[in-house]
Amino acid sequence: MLPGRVLLLFVLISCAYGHNIRKHEEKQPNVGIIGGHKISIESVPYIASLRLNGTFHWCGGSIIHERFILTAAHCIVPNREFKVLVGTDKVDEGGKLYDVEKIIIHEQYSNVTEDYDICILKLNESLTFGPKVAKVALTGNIVKLKKGLQLNATGWGYTQPEGKISEDLQQTSVPVVPWLSCQLSYGIQRRITRRMMCAGGKGRDSCSGDSGGPLTWNDVQVGITSFGAGCGVVPGVYTKISVMQQWIKDTVENNHKEKKIKKDKKNKKRLLKIAH
Ligand SMILES: *[C@@H]1O[C@H](CO)[C@@H](O)[C@H](O)[C@H]1NC(C)=O
Ligand SMILES: *[C@@H]1O[C@H](CO)[C@@H](O)[C@H](O)[C@H]1NC(C)=O
Ligand SMILES: *[C@@H]1O[C@H](CO)[C@@H](O)[C@H](O)[C@H]1NC(C)=O
Ligand SMILES: *[C@@H]1O[C@H](CO)[C@@H](O)[C@H](O)[C@H]1NC(C)=O
Repeated sequence: MLPGRVLLLFVLISCAYGHNIRKHEEKQPNVGIIGGHKISIESVPYIASLRLNGTFHWCGGSIIHERFILTAAHCIVPNREFKVLVGTDKVDEGGKLYDVEKIIIHEQYSNVTEDYDICILKLNESLTFGPKVAKVALTGNIVKLKKGLQLNATGWGYTQPEGKISEDLQQTSVPVVPWLSCQLSYGIQRRITRRMMCAGGKGRDSCSGDSGGPLTWNDVQVGITSFGAGCGVVPGVYTKISVMQQWIKDTVENNHKEKKIKKDKKNKKRLLKIAH
């Protein structure tokens, strides 16, 4: 019989490939959730669709503020135009489209390790909230991510590994997978960092086109869909909201204020002019 160590090493090597990012290939204008079911926009009014070249579904996102969308850093292709669609569960029908005024990728994001896979988009105008458009709560330390806790992954991504974008918004429930077991299924070449968490696996997973979308517990967002190895095979990896909370808060505050300060300055100047 093989000693345990050799077996483990074999497992590590055999699993250390096949990392795929959960946006779909640019040449393949199609987008899924494996093992999921249809879900209405009223059940997840905080979901958003990031449109590449301003047109077709590329990644998911979530509404965290009337002016800001949370998504994954790896969804951003340089020198492309992005728009955001909200208020619909149909990928190519209904809802309202917004321009992206500013893209803020985490300073420490690495496209090699996929660490800090987080990005905030500033919209060109404020969203109007209603039954189909609302912001999601972010976890803080509310949710204890214990092994086996069921979370919801939502998106328009592939519903099969070799699939295409789903017309209807899909959702599946995925259990939290502990760090060690997740790290073992990815192997030594793909480090699962403190900024990452894992959920799902066999038969229930996020897939291409789901990237950037929310992983939630009772409508509190705990993760951002990041990457996997295949779909529905090993646990999916998500950017962990709890460790990013401060960055999110600061980024929204700084970029919201920016304009306000400018406006205040303008108003001050105007007032000074009037006074003279
Ligand atoms: C998006 O636009 C760029 C530049 O115009 C183009 O090169 C690229 O192929 C477009 N992507 C798709 C999928 O149409
Ligand atoms: C924001 O972008 C949308 C979509 O392109 C556009 O219809 C709308 O007029 C823009 N709003 C402002 C204030 O520019
Ligand atoms: C990764 O980022 C570097 C610069 O930070 C860039 O030159 C390279 O093209 C990127 N690779 C991919 C696959 O996007
Ligand atoms: C997952 O979503 C379903 C349907 O929206 C909901 O009934 C369930 O409570 C959600 N579960 C969690 C853990 O959020």
